[in-house]
Order: sequence, then structure tokens, then C-alpha cells
Amino acid sequence: MRRWLILTSLFALVLGVAAAIEPSHFAGVPAKDHARVNPMADKPDAATAGASLFKAHCAECHQADASGDGKKKPSLRTPQVKSATDGDLEWFLRQGDLRHGMPSWSGIPQAQRWAIISYLRSLQ
Ligand code: HEC
Repeated sequence: MRRWLILTSLFALVLGVAAAIEPSHFAGVPAKDHARVNPMADKPDAATAGASLFKAHCAECHQADASGDGKKKPSLRTPQVKSATDGDLEWFLRQGDLRHGMPSWSGIPQAQRWAIISYLRSLQ
């Protein structure tokens, strides 16, 4: 009887942890980064520059129109990406998620990351 109780509690714990880990890529973004605003948001050329950068760096996985491959490489035209702040996206681009196949883009200039984010916004 007692063993059952322990086993069911353990099971519930595992389920709870699994649910908590279920990822939004933007849930763990530090507040300071979360609050950042794209300094290029109002510059019309930024989205155009971002489109070429996206083609060069991102399209091989996310497709030229950012619609993803329908499998592991997600669409970037989703409510999750739309509701992420500029700062969330910039942070995630810097971090990447190598374990799941998303490279880090900390090696490109910050202005390029913002331009790419302007492009992503122009799709929404
Ligand atoms: C080598 C393939 C690859 C390249 C190149 C790549 N990505 Fe990704 N990207 C992924 C994968 C795979 C994921 C999903 C990772 C996961 O599930 O944790 C992802 C996830 C993302 C997400 C999170 C989406 C969400 O809904 O949470 C964003 C935003 C993103 N990528 C933007 C970009 C941008 C912008 C570029 C170009 C600078 C880029 N990616 C280049 C493979 C790639």
C-alpha cells in the first residue's frame, strides 16, 4: 500500500517535471534581455537587409519564406514567435539550441541579428 503511494507520487512528480520542461524557447530569457527593443524597428531598409541575411543563414533550415520544413525545423510564422519580444528573439538567436539543431548566431554582428528580426516581424 505504502509502496503504491510512493510509486504514484513519483510518477506524478515525473509528469510534472516533464510538463515544466516542455519548451517555449523564450520562457527562460533574462528580464533585461526580454525588455530589449529592436533599434532598427522603424528603419524600412532593415527588413530588406534582414531578408537577404535570412536567405544566407536561415533559409536552408527554416525555408526562404520562414514556413519551416513541417518536421524538426519550425515555422517562424507562428503565434509563439509573434508574441516573443524583440529581445526574446535576439537572445535566442545568440544562444541557439544546439542540442535540437538550432545553431547559435552570436558570431554575426548584433546589427545583423536585429535586421533579421525586422524581417521576421515583416512576415507577421
Ligand atoms: C541548421 C538548421 C538551422 C539553421 C541554419 C537555423 N535554424 Fe532556427 N531552428 C532550427 C531548429 C531545429 C529549431 C528548433 C530547435 C528546438 O526545437 O529547440 C530552430 C528554432 C528557431 C527559433 C525558435 C522558434 C520557436 O518557435 O521557438 C527561431 C526564432 C529561429 N530558429 C530562428 C532562426 C534564424 C533567424 C536563423 C538564421 C539566423 C536560424 N534560425 C537558422 C534550425 C536552424
